[in-house]
Amino acid sequence: MGEQVSGADLAQWRKRARAEAHAAGIDAQEVDWLLRAISNVDILTLRLGLSQRAGVDLEVSLADLEHRWQQRLQQRVPVQYLVGETPWRQFSLRVSPAVLIPRPETELIIDLALDAVERSPQRDALATGTWVDMGTGSGAIALGLADAFPKANILAVDQSADALAVAQDNIQRYNLADRITLCQGSWFQPLADYRGKLSAVVSNPPYIPSGVLPTLQPEVIAHEPTTALDGGPDGLADLRILATQAPDYLIPGGLWLAEMMAGQGSAVTELLNQGGIYRDIQVIEDLAGRDRFTLALRR
Ligand SMILES: C[S@@+](CC[C@H](N)C(=O)[O-])C[C@H]1O[C@@H](n2cnc3c(N)ncnc32)[C@H](O)[C@@H]1O
Repeated sequence: MGEQVSGADLAQWRKRARAEAHAAGIDAQEVDWLLRAISNVDILTLRLGLSQRAGVDLEVSLADLEHRWQQRLQQRVPVQYLVGETPWRQFSLRVSPAVLIPRPETELIIDLALDAVERSPQRDALATGTWVDMGTGSGAIALGLADAFPKANILAVDQSADALAVAQDNIQRYNLADRITLCQGSWFQPLADYRGKLSAVVSNPPYIPSGVLPTLQPEVIAHEPTTALDGGPDGLADLRILATQAPDYLIPGGLWLAEMMAGQGSAVTELLNQGGIYRDIQVIEDLAGRDRFTLALRR
């Protein structure tokens, strides 16, 4: 239940929360992110005019706001889960602890796909074919692909029913239900009908080595789904399946594109080289020069 509070009281709350954020090593802007999500106060008013406002309508009670903020401070719950949404490319995506919070780094995967199609002699076949987002989570990549390739059909695979429920919400939010089909199962298992028919396999799979997981920041390891992160002993368990099984499903000239962790570029290249089925294998680095994506074409 919502509540109306005076601007002065909310300004006081904000001031204290920002100081607590600072002391806890949390970006103080997260306080405003939370406040904007539960009120209709814009950022300028929050920063400059809050205390002059007679009353501010909150969608939750001040006690609930405080409870959420304490979850952020004490349990390190990511602000995106507290708000229930995150921006990603041009979308505002619903997120819950059932899905990985889509990262800004992953946004580039859509531009890489666009660029690869543009460079392909088969660009029309690729752009109008069937694409798969493997491990769709919130549906971020599937939505991005549907937007980038308006004539393609998109399959969004995940083994988690809870994740697919979140993806479904996001797909409906952007009226893309007729373009994106959700498939529950492990990697290619639900795609038996698509052997030799896919234009592209795109994925941000789990790729963190199991032994590295405990070193991740508490926001990630204590709150994001382990099944979205854990890539097995060497981090490559899922990338290995995606690389070795995709050729059975891709059309000749079809695109294989996956995100990975810094340092995995040569191992993923080797996986793709085995069997000699891929060509034009390319590791793409991020702005800091770390390998981040690998792209290849099926011969
Ligand atoms: C790193 S998250 C990526 C989520 C989303 N695509 C993104 O980029 O934000 C990996 C996703 O793969 C899913 N996943 C893990 N193992 C899987 C499997 N064997 N088959 C299908 N999906 C799987 C997880 O549930 C999770 O949603």
